[in-house]
Amino acid sequence: MNKVLALLLISSLFLFGCVGYGSQPAPGAGPAPVENGGMMTVQEFSLTARQWEFQPSTITVKKDIPVKLTITSTDVAHGFALTDFNVNSRLEPGQATVVQFTPDRAGTFNFFCSVVCGSGHGGMRGTLVVTE
Ligand code: CUA
Repeated sequence: MNKVLALLLISSLFLFGCVGYGSQPAPGAGPAPVENGGMMTVQEFSLTARQWEFQPSTITVKKDIPVKLTITSTDVAHGFALTDFNVNSRLEPGQATVVQFTPDRAGTFNFFCSVVCGSGHGGMRGTLVVTE
């Protein structure tokens, strides 16, 4: 009986280990893990969204290193869409929204507000520059 229990324990540990490993997102797909054992840094930025701009409106990051944006709307609900990296989040007024992704290619990409927020909504955008 003890043997069976031990086997069950070991196999469940093994299974949990596999599940944990398998649940990590693929590179560039959705939110990236922040924990990295000190091997990589996370590129962190704080942004403000308001009618009708993002501040700062240009962000420069390095390729293949996770990016963490903390975005706060100071007036009405806005959105933050960065379609090239599958990001689209709603920004509730007065709340900080964390957006995470790992840019897997270099270039210049546009982000924009994805929640209708008034007459200037269409022009509420910014630029992500990803360098090698
Ligand atoms: Cu801000 Cu639409």
